[in-house]
Amino acid sequence: MVEPTAIRHFTEIDSTNSECLRLVNSGCELPLWVLADYQTNGRGRLNRSWLGQKGNLYASGLYSFTAPPAKSAELGFAAALAVIDAVTPFVANEQLSLKWPNDVLLNGAKLCGILLESHAGKQQGQNVVVIGIGINLSHAPEIQDRKTACLADFRKAEQSIQPQNLLPDLIESFEKWVSIWQEQGFAPLRQAWIANCCGLGDTIRTSQEDVGIFEDMQKNGALLLRKADGKAIEISAGEIFLTGQKEQT
Ligand code: BTN
Repeated sequence: MVEPTAIRHFTEIDSTNSECLRLVNSGCELPLWVLADYQTNGRGRLNRSWLGQKGNLYASGLYSFTAPPAKSAELGFAAALAVIDAVTPFVANEQLSLKWPNDVLLNGAKLCGILLESHAGKQQGQNVVVIGIGINLSHAPEIQDRKTACLADFRKAEQSIQPQNLLPDLIESFEKWVSIWQEQGFAPLRQAWIANCCGLGDTIRTSQEDVGIFEDMQKNGALLLRKADGKAIEISAGEIFLTGQKEQT
């Protein structure tokens, strides 16, 4: 039987992503996960901080791949799909959706954020990837200009969802998507992501202030935006804002 991936559990830490980086530098054995009950300096995408009290999930996985950093970015989609799998038993599936690139939404509000960081490994061609996942289980912290949600407000039954109980299922699902990615490439992940995503076909705005129709997700995970002048541009970084406008037919 394959041993489950090891989890190091901290009551308090600055950031589980930062701890993973320290562990890489100390030469620890991979893969492993770091779980913290509370983060004093949680980090989000685009240099933001990630806030939250005890009761939410703060975890980071540390893996080593031979895929180059650009390909490793595809793992953010694997993580988002794994979050959907892990929380589906607790809420109605149609309440969950994926927002490009890696957010998981519950009733259209942010339930989960994912912070992917990669570093060159000690061996030639080795790429060490940290997959940081924050899921709002018990409360929804405020994020500027974003609606947030937590699982406790929408769960089907009155059971409490503890981070340490959810994490093994999340890891199992993440590793399932990673195996699919390694064996079949990004295409099945792209297909599953598109089946669960929101905003496709709608008018969106990007953090670079480009406005257009979210036409497709490309084979490399980039978003294809069709602007009013008919030109299509590829968006591979930043974030998008859903304007609620549907494409005119
Ligand atoms: C985002 O901005 O949407 C990404 C948020 C990622 C937060 C998680 S919580 C666990 C891990 N440790 C961190 O410091 N950040 C990530």
